[in-house]
Amino acid sequence: MAAHEIVDYLPDTSAATLGIGMIGCGSIAQKAHLPAYRKYGFQVVGAFDVIPAALRSAVDRFDLRPYDSLDDLLADEAVAVVDVAVRTEDRYPVILQALRAGKHVLSQKPFASTIEQAREIVELGERLGLTVAVNQNGRWAPSWRAATVWNQSGAVGEVQAVNHTFTVSFDWTVGTHFDGMEHFVIYDYAAHWFDITRCWLEGKRITEVRSWDTRAPRQPAESHTPWNMVAQILCADGTSASILGTGAATADTRNQHAFEIVGSDGTIRGEDLNREWVELDRGFDRVRLDPTLTWFPDGFAGTMGELQAAIAEDREPYNSGRHVLPSLEIGLAAVESADHGGAPVAVDINA
Ligand SMILES: NC(=O)c1ccc[n+]([C@@H]2O[C@H](COP(=O)([O-])OP(=O)(O)OC[C@H]3O[C@@H](n4cnc5c(N)ncnc54)[C@H](O)[C@@H]3O)[C@@H](O)[C@H]2O)c1
Repeated sequence: MAAHEIVDYLPDTSAATLGIGMIGCGSIAQKAHLPAYRKYGFQVVGAFDVIPAALRSAVDRFDLRPYDSLDDLLADEAVAVVDVAVRTEDRYPVILQALRAGKHVLSQKPFASTIEQAREIVELGERLGLTVAVNQNGRWAPSWRAATVWNQSGAVGEVQAVNHTFTVSFDWTVGTHFDGMEHFVIYDYAAHWFDITRCWLEGKRITEVRSWDTRAPRQPAESHTPWNMVAQILCADGTSASILGTGAATADTRNQHAFEIVGSDGTIRGEDLNREWVELDRGFDRVRLDPTLTWFPDGFAGTMGELQAAIAEDREPYNSGRHVLPSLEIGLAAVESADHGGAPVAVDINA
């Protein structure tokens, strides 16, 4: 078997020993963070949420110690890492406070509302000798992870193009905080797509981002945020990336998330989220994986596992705040473009 066929897409949970303090016990914390930690044996010490009902629900479901305040959680020496799963607009002061209290941080995505806030967090962590990582759990979605490992090994040569499509139903967003965003699909949902694209374009210089969104004809009148999106990312050497997504599929049809990395020596293609498969096609040989794990919740063990492994090995995690800065820059440039009807935004981003 050729070396490139052996691809390890599993989360590394070998160093899952540090005490975790869960900050924010809302939807995603209970749907994915805490189930992943339970499944993989991470040590969750306790939790805090400003809404008592949210805290109570998480404490009861996952058998956690409740803290009375953020200060109490941060004062507990048994907590070495905080998992900050509050919304982006609320997260920045919480992360700064946690770092100043001496805790390593796993931040939900999008990393910050502005690139300045994200840089400040990264620099403060580095100054204090603490690790800041971002919960870009898509990096450990099994098919995307396998694609990343193949791509990093040079299995398809030099990347020429990256293409994504997704076809889903965003009916579930109506009435949620996501629907209150001007460009939910570009800003929030696609944050994982911008991030993985940045990973696959590693080493290239991105010079232009364009993105726009439209209301799909069948969107209910009460829904605010547009459900259709397009994004294009161009590199100085001519490499291009695209994301074409719609949330206008009906809720009873099968969601689809497809991707391809087109390289000079072959193509990696696959699907993730609702159906995991990935194929390395080098013309003369084809290797296909059908992973048994899934993005939710296993990808969430990937991000926390990588953070803890990096601390144990005294190195920067792959999902470090610094590594995610270019992803955030791409995402924010896409939002800026959408604010101007899809006008090209000139950028200078080293992926
Ligand atoms: N795949 C993914 O990684 C993924 C999926 C869904 C959501 N998210 C992200 O997760 C974040 C949270 O989304 P959600 O839908 O779970 O939101 P949510 O509103 O359901 O949960 C956030 C919780 O944080 C609590 N909170 C706010 N400020 C706090 C503070 N200072 N201290 C403690 N708790 C506080 C709120 O009371 C709430 O219970 C968003 O940034 C979202 O984009 C990521």
